[in-house]
Amino acid sequence: MQLDLSADQVLIRDAVRDLCAREFGPQASSWDREAVVPRQAVARLAEQGFLGMAIPEDWGGVGYDSRTLLIVLEEIARVSAALAIMIAVHNSVGALPVFRFGTDEQRRRFLPRLVSRELAAFSLSEPGAGSDAGAIEATATRTEQHYVLRGSKNWVTNGEQAGVYLIFARTDKAVGSGGLTAFILERGTPGLVVGKAEDKMGLRGSDTVALSLEEVKVPLDQRLGAEGEGFKIAMSMLDAGRIGVAAQALGVMGAAFEESVRYAQQRRAFGQPIARQQAVQFKLAEMERRIQASRLLIWRAAWLKDTGQPYTREASMAKLYASEAATWVTHQAVQVHGGYGYVKEFAVERYYRDARVMEIYEGTSEIQRLVIARSLLKDGVKV
Ligand code: CAA
Repeated sequence: MQLDLSADQVLIRDAVRDLCAREFGPQASSWDREAVVPRQAVARLAEQGFLGMAIPEDWGGVGYDSRTLLIVLEEIARVSAALAIMIAVHNSVGALPVFRFGTDEQRRRFLPRLVSRELAAFSLSEPGAGSDAGAIEATATRTEQHYVLRGSKNWVTNGEQAGVYLIFARTDKAVGSGGLTAFILERGTPGLVVGKAEDKMGLRGSDTVALSLEEVKVPLDQRLGAEGEGFKIAMSMLDAGRIGVAAQALGVMGAAFEESVRYAQQRRAFGQPIARQQAVQFKLAEMERRIQASRLLIWRAAWLKDTGQPYTREASMAKLYASEAATWVTHQAVQVHGGYGYVKEFAVERYYRDARVMEIYEGTSEIQRLVIARSLLKDGVKV
């Protein structure tokens, strides 16, 4: 596994870092306050090809490998974790499944829009089915020309802004997770009702909505993959998505760490900068350790994915470790800042709120532990 970035990856990282610092950094706290990331921000990323990172050039994308995609997500998350999750969900669990599991006709129809301008949303969870994704109750009943979808979905990132939705529903009531099927829906389809955005603790600029499926007629040719394959499609896409969340966590904790180091060198107490106090030094050292360990787990999962090896366990380890590290690092960043860390004038307050959900969405920490344990008991310990 190569640890150095390639020359191309350095160029891409520097370009996205510069774009984020110039155009998004100054806006990020007002996006949080106003609870919206404006469409122009997504449009700016689209211009650079960042809506098509996981899609090969033959299909209009920029065809990045996983590591390059994760570098971009980390950089965006350094300034806005809200924008980062919008782009992460779009690329990893929105556009990529259309490419991976779609027919050529579906690819021709949906990918040009997805790589150039429209966000995608991924809708698996329901009010009664989050961690237990196999328990979803939304149904898809087949008629001669359509499937008719009925039910309620929630926690849909990008649900308000998306042009294309991947929705999972039950085509076979009798078979648990094996009875699920994936569908591609377009915004504006009659019966696809978008609820109001959730009022969240963090990631406030990223919209999260409930969807109501009210007798939605979906043409047969908008089924993604075969009937009954939906659960496996969702799980395999979440493997990729989880490394993206880990990269998002890396970006947020990296930003919180940098602010903490800067602040600790400026802020004086007891006659000297607080960075001279061992209590603060230990916090900074521990932050650095967790950040670097997260990065290695993330890059390992990406390397396995890019070399075509199984990576479910490693994606879960990267997501679990990095998200828990991010909540810890941002917590400590607030502590280093003292009272100033608790007010909105300092960004660490936002980082702390933003990081919290990373232990919850795309599979809670408990689910990641379950995935890791099941994998090691089934496939053995890897050394
Ligand atoms: N890739 C491919 N196939 C997989 C797989 C994977 N990663 N994981 C499981 N499968 C297959 C299994 O091999 C099995 O196949 P067979 O029936 O042929 O043997 C089948 O799927 C069922 O697997 P399990 O028996 O392991 O299923 P389970 O019901 O025990 O559930 C689970 C496993 C890990 C708990 C799963 O339900 C899970 O990951 N839950 C969390 C869901 C989640 O992450 N939700 C987040 C939604 S997205 C979001 O957060 C919002 C957003 O927009 C950011």
